[in-house]
Amino acid sequence: MKKIVLAYSGGLDTSIAVGWLKEKGFEVIAYCGDVGQKIDIKKLSKKAADTGVKKLIIKDLKKEFVTNYIIPAIKANAIYEDKYFLATALSRPLLAKAQVEIALKEKAGYLGHGCTGKGNDQVRFEMGFAFLAPHLKVIAPAREWDFASREEQIDFALKHKIPVDITKKSPYSIDENIWGVSIECGVLEDPQKTLPEEAYLITKSLKKAAAKEQVVKITFKKGVPVKLNAKKMNCYNIIKKLNAIGGNHGIGRSDMIENRSVGIKSREVYEAPAAAILIYAHKELEAMTLDKATLHHKAILEKQYADLIYHGCWFTPLKEAIEAFIDKTQDVVTGEVSLKLYKGNITVAGRKSDYSLYSKELATYSKDDAFDKTAASGFIKIISLPYKITGKRKK
Ligand code: ARG
Repeated sequence: MKKIVLAYSGGLDTSIAVGWLKEKGFEVIAYCGDVGQKIDIKKLSKKAADTGVKKLIIKDLKKEFVTNYIIPAIKANAIYEDKYFLATALSRPLLAKAQVEIALKEKAGYLGHGCTGKGNDQVRFEMGFAFLAPHLKVIAPAREWDFASREEQIDFALKHKIPVDITKKSPYSIDENIWGVSIECGVLEDPQKTLPEEAYLITKSLKKAAAKEQVVKITFKKGVPVKLNAKKMNCYNIIKKLNAIGGNHGIGRSDMIENRSVGIKSREVYEAPAAAILIYAHKELEAMTLDKATLHHKAILEKQYADLIYHGCWFTPLKEAIEAFIDKTQDVVTGEVSLKLYKGNITVAGRKSDYSLYSKELATYSKDDAFDKTAASGFIKIISLPYKITGKRKK
């Protein structure tokens, strides 16, 4: 019998994929990677069994996700198109990697995923598969089956007694992990409409957000968050805590129209309180500790790095090389940043670093001023020289 390892969440698409693959004569090993989404193991096991899965493997990937995927993203201040902290995109290469490992161990000849034919995730999974195990065949049921709508899929599920939580009334597609929540479909397909408040999973509305501001202090060591409010904590727990704290202040929501890899624009709503707070703090510390040229060059590479993650290019030489540059810049990104959180806003309360390049003697306007003002006029004379000439030409 043909054996397939299917990336499985228990959601609508992957549940239907199980039924569809079985119809096609596959023995389905379902695999669920735990990247910090809420998994009810008992419920998922029952659901997998009821759906006809031969074997369910749940793999705890939380530590690896934080260490090898989220921390590099923090160092890179990785944000796609100014709004998306890449929670879903970052998880895919890791999920693909763990899936390949299982397929090799189980001696399966096929890898499967429930991604649709117009999304980014199919690209991310299969870019990973291509790099890690090009000899395995890939099956993407959702690209092959011919349901005309989500409603039809739900009907298929109901008919085949495949248990799904989704109802026809709230047809959101939600992807969640420790770095954030992605919500699409349903009412979001109309860009004029707002997502109803009850659809948000981890953030409060501004109206319901805490009435009092709260200060959080984050300590970084070489770009990695190591303490929260002066308490040593592993990065996973810092993220978890900040999701709760930030969520309570309505921080980290974004509603965006984004450019997908496959060329279409799509509408998505994101929640990422911890990501918003940590990257804000990290940028503040870099502003203080990185020299101007490095900081400005890093910003260009950050954008490219975020684009690479978004478009599924995790396992690529360019991504690795940019990471090496970024890592080098983090040698001095050690220190602490305090932030005020209030009604969806983040503002700086203070920052401090032993590697600070900020010099009060140079910046001050008081009598302690150590800046040599006499050098300024010569400096301006020389750098303005080309524009003196082009200015004349214009006249
Ligand atoms: N648009 C995001 C991305 O491409 C999220 C995709 C998955 N979203 C979802 N709601 N299932 O990374």
